[in-house]
Amino acid sequence: MEDQTSLPNIVLVGFMGTGKSALGRKLARRLRRVFVDTDATVESLAGCSIRELFARDGEEAFRDLETAAAEEVSRMRGCVVATGGGIVGRDENIRLLRTGGVLICLESRPEIIVRRTQPWTSRPMLRSAPNPYQAVVRLMEERSHRYALADWSLDTSDRKPQELLDEICAKLPSLYPLAGTRS
Ligand code: S3P
Repeated sequence: MEDQTSLPNIVLVGFMGTGKSALGRKLARRLRRVFVDTDATVESLAGCSIRELFARDGEEAFRDLETAAAEEVSRMRGCVVATGGGIVGRDENIRLLRTGGVLICLESRPEIIVRRTQPWTSRPMLRSAPNPYQAVVRLMEERSHRYALADWSLDTSDRKPQELLDEICAKLPSLYPLAGTRS
């Protein structure tokens, strides 16, 4: 059997509600890889939910733990990694995620994201916005140049999970050589 730990991590980045966790878990199952979710790592480091962490210590504290989660990922190999939508905000995080990994950005149209991210009470970046649609559009615009740093992007808007998995798996051989080669 193939030694999974000699393969790069497959790191899914992208906005909230683009399907990183759901698709990541399915991809890991299909490829028989370990699945890691940086939001879950943050919650275990914090000892509370992300919502509680934002409320208790603020966004910067959350971002620091997110960087700690990216550091953990940089020491792993052969995993499928789903990340939080804002992880691309720090250069340091991108460098860490790229260490032995390839970055795939999942994209979706804002109206689909608005639908998939409800209830917004559990989304600290959207919960206090008077108009979540506008908040999604604005945050997406602010972050678009960061998401563009990924090695490859895929629109998940109107696609079935199985189709997306097939497309990702077909693309992987051409992405693997990029692992760890860019900063
Ligand atoms: C965030 C996205 C969330 C989570 C946190 C902040 C963001 O993850 O990390 O609420 O800044 O976009 P998902 O993208 O998995 O929802």
